[in-house]
Amino acid sequence: MLFRSIHTAFLQYQVLLFRMQDLPPGRQVEFARHFGEVQIHVMNQYHADGYPELYRLSNLDENGNPNGKHPDKGTLAWHTDGSWRRVTGQATIIYAEVVAGEGGETHFCDMYRAYERLSPEWKKRIANLLAVHNLDFSRTRRHGEEPMTEAQRREVPPVDHPIVRTHPDTGRKCLFLGDHAEYIAGMDYDEGRALIDELNALAVHPDLTYEHRWTPGELIVWDNRCLMHRATDYDPAVQRRVVRRCTVLGEIPRQ
Ligand SMILES: [Fe+2]
Repeated sequence: MLFRSIHTAFLQYQVLLFRMQDLPPGRQVEFARHFGEVQIHVMNQYHADGYPELYRLSNLDENGNPNGKHPDKGTLAWHTDGSWRRVTGQATIIYAEVVAGEGGETHFCDMYRAYERLSPEWKKRIANLLAVHNLDFSRTRRHGEEPMTEAQRREVPPVDHPIVRTHPDTGRKCLFLGDHAEYIAGMDYDEGRALIDELNALAVHPDLTYEHRWTPGELIVWDNRCLMHRATDYDPAVQRRVVRRCTVLGEIPRQ
């Protein structure tokens, strides 16, 4: 009953914030399972606390000191979780354990309204286009660190998804793109790259964006099907930041 209310709010507001939560890892996975099947991330070096469903982003060494290394630069670009899979991410659920004093915020952008705000010409131009999403592209080639192994690469080959997606629960159309989108199916590679970059930039409007500054013990749940998000940078040599994340699988995107 309570979950039904949470799910209704999730569809209506797209981002939910729960403050002052004492949430052990097992409870986080349990909560996530209410939404659906929880993704086991292919990059198993991030698995946390013995739960392969959880993905820990931390810049701390074994003594709890900043190690100077950002754990995932891929999160700094606007993206939607799991768009590099045939079945893409539905909800992402992040719990903040340790929060940076400066930076390390999370930004969200409403992709329903980003779509609605496009000109009729743009809507027409992208109506039937498929973008090819590729984790190896966004992670390894663009951000350079923690490259994927050959086996991980084989496990997640590139997949195509419609750029204009109809949300399976609300029936509303939205843009589905972000940093994992590499090129456009059937289009010259560079032309497709340019179109993706242009559209990703065009989608983000200050008034469609929510910027969240974290406090420890906060839990945020968001809908990847109709939002893009990104993290802001922080100084990993000075600040401490530890969050644990899990992503619930959704469905194959439909036009
Ligand atoms: Fe993400």
